[in-house]
Amino acid sequence: MTAGDESDLVRRGYDALSYHYRGDDAGEDRYAPWLAELRARLPAGASVLDLGCGNGVPVARSLAAAGYQVTGVDISDVQIERARRLVPAGTFIRADATAIEFPTRSFDAVVCLYALIHMPLAAQPGLLRRAAGWLRPAGWLLAVTGHSAWTGTEGNWLGGPAPMWWSQADAGTYRSWLEQAGLQVTAQEFVPEGDGGHELFWARRPLADQRAFLTPEPARGYPGRRLRPGRARRSRCASATPGWSRSGPRAGLVEPPTRQVLEVVVPAAFRGQVALASPAPWS
Ligand SMILES: C[S@@+](CC[C@H](N)C(=O)[O-])C[C@H]1O[C@@H](n2cnc3c(N)ncnc32)[C@H](O)[C@@H]1O
Repeated sequence: MTAGDESDLVRRGYDALSYHYRGDDAGEDRYAPWLAELRARLPAGASVLDLGCGNGVPVARSLAAAGYQVTGVDISDVQIERARRLVPAGTFIRADATAIEFPTRSFDAVVCLYALIHMPLAAQPGLLRRAAGWLRPAGWLLAVTGHSAWTGTEGNWLGGPAPMWWSQADAGTYRSWLEQAGLQVTAQEFVPEGDGGHELFWARRPLADQRAFLTPEPARGYPGRRLRPGRARRSRCASATPGWSRSGPRAGLVEPPTRQVLEVVVPAAFRGQVALASPAPWS
């Protein structure tokens, strides 16, 4: 089976099994604490992207009711038709999430619950990398991924008339993909289900990315200087950075700043929440 065949099997599967999977009036159930946590982390009116949004219940419905601007993407026509009907305040797009594009820094949060595991494994790290780029600085990614690696098909899934296909990596691999995407994983937990379970991740785009620091002003010293004239130039970490001297960078050398230099330039309220990815993978 090719990647196109697999995605088509998933699309047709959810078209046929949409009502088997979730009713129109389903409650928040296990999603309730995750949604409460997300609401607590987001500013009023935040914009949220839900990748693999299903029928919009309960995630998009709950977030739209809380006043957030919700955009849902799903590969299944039936799921999207239902989401548009059940969550009229949301915007829903029928598309394959592995191929969709959004402008960089357009969402305060990206949610992807139990959906990545239906996408071809080879496409998943790329989607996470692009999703990290769609986040605004300090934005959140909430994802439920696989816990153990497994790829396979199940016939008559949920007792319905269609087969379903999954393709998932193990939790450690998902964590490393998130980190390679430039996100800071702040929490990870096993979500039990039947004999197995899934993995829940909270990950955050760093407040400041280093792209702003990658091109030093050639004749005037390193990038931190603009923000704290004089102070950073004399700091121990700046002079200790390989390739940098007290008088600035060597000609033609582009060197990311050290963590210490970056902490000098972020507001006090956000200290300790900043990590460097080298280079910023979403740029
Ligand atoms: C298990 S359901 C989860 C729905 C919802 N996220 C939730 O947790 O209630 C997985 C959803 O992902 C969607 N999906 C699977 N592969 C997709 C893809 N490549 N692009 C977009 N949506 C996809 C399916 O159509 C389905 O609605």
